[in-house]
Amino acid sequence: MTGEAMTASSVTGLLQNVTGTLVLVGAGKMGGAMLDGWLRLGFTRERIVILEPHPSPAIKALTTLGVRLNPPANEIKDVAFIVIAIKPQEAAAVIPALQPLAGSGALAISIMAGKTLAFLERTLGADTAIVRAMPNTPAAIGRGITVGVPNAKVTSNQKTLAHRLLGAIGAVEWVEDEALLDAVTAVSGSGPAYVFLLAESLARAGTAAGLPADLASRLARATVAGSGELLHQSPLDVATLRQNVTSRGGTTAAALDVLMAPAGLDRLMETAIAAATKRSKELAE
Ligand SMILES: NC(=O)c1ccc[n+]([C@@H]2O[C@H](COP(=O)([O-])OP(=O)(O)OC[C@H]3O[C@@H](n4cnc5c(N)ncnc54)[C@H](OP(=O)(O)O)[C@@H]3O)[C@@H](O)[C@H]2O)c1
Repeated sequence: MTGEAMTASSVTGLLQNVTGTLVLVGAGKMGGAMLDGWLRLGFTRERIVILEPHPSPAIKALTTLGVRLNPPANEIKDVAFIVIAIKPQEAAAVIPALQPLAGSGALAISIMAGKTLAFLERTLGADTAIVRAMPNTPAAIGRGITVGVPNAKVTSNQKTLAHRLLGAIGAVEWVEDEALLDAVTAVSGSGPAYVFLLAESLARAGTAAGLPADLASRLARATVAGSGELLHQSPLDVATLRQNVTSRGGTTAAALDVLMAPAGLDRLMETAIAAATKRSKELAE
């Protein structure tokens, strides 16, 4: 399935026939977004177990629908999936306690930044089938993109199931070489922040050009959001969409001459991505 992209909408309904118990460890922002997606796609509520010490009211409310919250360990049976969505700094304290759940042939999916397959195998058990995944924040609206890397124990059936579960928060891509996750983290994991910065920077530049600050801010936000949606919906490639707004000798061309100069955005972005990739390598364990 390497390179295959599957959108959330294209997997609708595909979770209805998935069997076994799914244990979600950490129902914060990312865990909560995945949970929403699984419920939307028909995962049987009674087969979802949430382990979360401080559940939000929304998570507590799910118990009235049949989802189980913090049940005693001996009541968690037939575990097919353990999805780990806690903060990386909590991993060393929390994950060893999951070993008995993982030991029964379950597939573990971790979305913790920087926690390598080697770390997960050490803490969950060397025989555990594990997918390490890197999502991004548009997951909150089902429009994220997640890149997964399986360890050697993951069967092709488990990979397909992991694809469906991760597909609940957006598109899914696979790589076989775990080392690529540092660059993935730099590009798509951290990427939303660069796009938000673009909106901030565009607004500041608009203000500097004489616009009232609140108008500049609305123009920048709508421009970034609308362009993102156009990019999402259009069959055209990115360069063509850019060229379509650019007439020779016009205003856009004047700005792009600056942004696309040798020391322009490409150079800056390459330096930024290299810095994030380096930091991701430093933080990995
Ligand atoms: N947000 C992103 O853009 C992004 C992108 C890629 C990857 N990730 C990864 O996704 C993971 C989750 O991030 P997030 O933004 O969703 O963080 P978050 O909102 O803080 O969620 C983490 C959740 O885990 C809970 N937790 C703490 N100790 C626990 C325990 N012993 N057992 C079960 N649950 C426990 C936390 O509860 P408390 O609030 O009570 O501590 C919190 O609800 C992180 O590892 C991060 O690296 C995030």
